[in-house]
Amino acid sequence: MKHLLTMNELTTEEIESILTQAEKFKNCETWDGAREKYISNLFFEASTRTRCSFEMAERKLGISVIPFEAATSSVQKGESLYDTVKFMESIGVDAVVIRHEEDHYFRQLMEGINIPIINGGDGCGNHPTQCLLDLLTIKEEFGSFEDLKISIIGDIKHSRVARSNAEALTKLGATVCFSGPKEWFSNALLENGEYLEIDEAIETSDGVMLLRIQHERHASTSQLTKEEYHDSFGLTIEREKRMKRNSIIMHPAPFNRGVEIADELVESAKSRIFKQMENGVFVRMAVLKKVLEK
Ligand code: CP
Repeated sequence: MKHLLTMNELTTEEIESILTQAEKFKNCETWDGAREKYISNLFFEASTRTRCSFEMAERKLGISVIPFEAATSSVQKGESLYDTVKFMESIGVDAVVIRHEEDHYFRQLMEGINIPIINGGDGCGNHPTQCLLDLLTIKEEFGSFEDLKISIIGDIKHSRVARSNAEALTKLGATVCFSGPKEWFSNALLENGEYLEIDEAIETSDGVMLLRIQHERHASTSQLTKEEYHDSFGLTIEREKRMKRNSIIMHPAPFNRGVEIADELVESAKSRIFKQMENGVFVRMAVLKKVLEK
């Protein structure tokens, strides 16, 4: 695997191979191939989980992390993304992890950059390692993806997590449905799943995946108050009682307690939200191994 940019470009076999390797790392398997390897995490957009989780994965593998802070880098003097990555390549960095606000930023790097690029999130486009950690969490819970129904609820239109998950889950045999405010639903998503009213989505799904409202990607502010959104489109305590018996709650985080999910449900029995975060480290170790091994 040269790069990891989108879920669409991975075959089913490649996805399964990454999940299997992640499970091995979770079961304490080690890999010595990363010694003397250097990685830089180039985050041009805010992140807590993806950035820290990659750094944890890199350190567990013995990779040397070359620090980079966009706010104090020569990006502030007008240096381009391409020239920043080319610099990293020229000093001997073996791979870069990039998060950027521009959809498909990586297209401008495909000609001229020779080191692997791992996409840590591109605008409203893709978030492949979030998807892989979601898949690992679902696989741990249910064993496989066939015959599962996963609902993705909230600000779908602006969510790279929704897009990556819908593509991958469908490819793996699960049924995906969407819910949330209709103005945040894009017809382009229909090829991967139908739109359902919130109560039907929650009551019929094995996995209920909630999404944060991506205010930073909205042209105008929502007309709904937080309370109105929670009542109309959130996982309320009342709605959670109507979920299927063995169903689980997921959220890529950061979450807004009391908006898309009731505060009390974040760490409830059905919630796998912190399990997702834990799995992120092992999935990222597996991805790093895939792009670094010769
Ligand atoms: N889930 C996720 O991508 O979180 P961060 O934005 O904190 O990295």
